[in-house]
Amino acid sequence: MKVKVSRKEHFNAAHRLYNPEWSDQENERVFGKCASPNFHGHNYELIVSLIGEPDPATGYVYDMKRLSDLIRKNVIQKFDHKNLNLDTEYFRNLNPTAENIATVIWRILREQIESKFDLKITLYETERNFVEYPAS
Ligand code: NI
Repeated sequence: MKVKVSRKEHFNAAHRLYNPEWSDQENERVFGKCASPNFHGHNYELIVSLIGEPDPATGYVYDMKRLSDLIRKNVIQKFDHKNLNLDTEYFRNLNPTAENIATVIWRILREQIESKFDLKITLYETERNFVEYPAS
């Protein structure tokens, strides 16, 4: 009897999408405004989901306060009000697309959460654009 529990958190951050091997024109053609050299920001909504069996003693899959603290300490403090390209170690050589931000967050949190729980990251870059990792 597995149950999925989710915690929603928020951060805002700046980024620029570009491939250093391409010309400025090529970057603008592919990434549009997101290639703008002076960066731009997004309000990211992050949903972290854990899937597991409710503990018979508590009825909880996971203590949500503990999950919130883990996300804040390991993700929000690193990314909130930061320039993802310049201020974080993760995106020096990795394009900070929503896809890549979601996989980075998954790797960070996977180390913090016992392997008996499945972990899923949902990241909204805008109200209409969001990604999920793992995909299924
Ligand atoms: Ni963008």
